[in-house]
Amino acid sequence: MKLLWAVSALLLSCWRADASAGPNIVADPQEVSNQTSAVLSCNLTESSLPIKGSHWLFEGKMIDDSVSSDASPYTVHRLDKITHSNSGKYECVFATEPEVKMAIEVKTLPHVVAYKHSEHGNENDKGVMVCVGHGHPLPTDWFWYKEEDGNSNAILNGTGERFEIKSTPNKTTLTISNLSIENDIGYYTCSATNELGTGSDKIHLRVRSRLAALWPFLGIVAEVIILVTIIFIYEKRRKPDEVNDDDDSGSAPLKSNSTANHKDKNVRQRNSN
Ligand SMILES: *[C@@H]1O[C@H](CO)[C@@H](O)[C@H](O)[C@H]1NC(C)=O
Ligand SMILES: *[C@@H]1O[C@H](CO)[C@@H](O)[C@H](O)[C@H]1NC(C)=O
Ligand SMILES: *[C@@H]1O[C@H](CO)[C@@H](O)[C@H](O)[C@H]1NC(C)=O
Ligand SMILES: *[C@@H]1O[C@H](CO)[C@@H](O)[C@H](O)[C@H]1NC(C)=O
Ligand SMILES: *[C@@H]1O[C@H](CO)[C@@H](O)[C@H](O)[C@H]1NC(C)=O
Repeated sequence: MKLLWAVSALLLSCWRADASAGPNIVADPQEVSNQTSAVLSCNLTESSLPIKGSHWLFEGKMIDDSVSSDASPYTVHRLDKITHSNSGKYECVFATEPEVKMAIEVKTLPHVVAYKHSEHGNENDKGVMVCVGHGHPLPTDWFWYKEEDGNSNAILNGTGERFEIKSTPNKTTLTISNLSIENDIGYYTCSATNELGTGSDKIHLRVRSRLAALWPFLGIVAEVIILVTIIFIYEKRRKPDEVNDDDDSGSAPLKSNSTANHKDKNVRQRNSN
């Protein structure tokens, strides 16, 4: 098994040495870090291959306005404004036979945004706060802090069995169980780190008392009581009318509905007069 590995490693290095003797692309710069703008360039050297043109890729996708049919062994791509959304892997591609290409990575600090800048939960219930990260490279670590008296106190996963942190490279979630008004209201910071540095955002958490959570319910109960009372009073006042109506229809059960309604109205008008 070991021998097999050694042989394949040897073959691979031979193949590599072979490749480096052929066309070579010199990228300048080789990497872009933490810059607001950049000019990416590729210079195809040591190549006798005919060049039919060139273009650039971003994250593997063709950049439309970079396509050129120039036979030049030199191509540039300008990035006037570098943000988290256009950071990533760029590649220059020369249309030779076979195609040759070279990658330039454009890196930015993590761009972190809270899913909601204001969250709320009910006392003794749980509170959930979420932040997402963008940019290249994606964060390698996520941290949460609680702002208290001008200090940022780190929240660790599992602290007091109430705090739980779940993170993926592009998202982190802090769940606080059994929220308390005394301890949990305030500002929380989520922060993400990659090889260039740190990006962060803040979330304000509000905790409502159980009673406050009950208010809408009490409101509905009060509404129902008032409604029932009104209907009850109304029905009580209507009672004499209905006795008349009943007498009417009782004495003339064969009359059509319309005449019954008509009479109904007459009776009511008489009553109100
Ligand atoms: C490309 O590389 C060649 C050989 O290294 C060099 O002579 C030439 O000036 C370079 N072209 C540009 C535009 O930098
Ligand atoms: C936090 O702990 C929970 C369970 O204890 C685990 O599922 C989760 O992956 C941990 N999160 C981090 C960021 O370590
Ligand atoms: C997070 O990353 C994964 C894989 O890298 C991707 O599929 C997903 O869409 C990303 N989510 C967000 C919110 O960017
Ligand atoms: C939640 O916290 C309160 C004190 O704030 C405590 O009395 C109660 O036992 C806790 N409940 C759970 C389920 O941990
Ligand atoms: C990147 O730039 C920011 C400000 O734009 C700076 O605070 C940070 O230190 C820089 N990071 C590196 C690694 O140069």
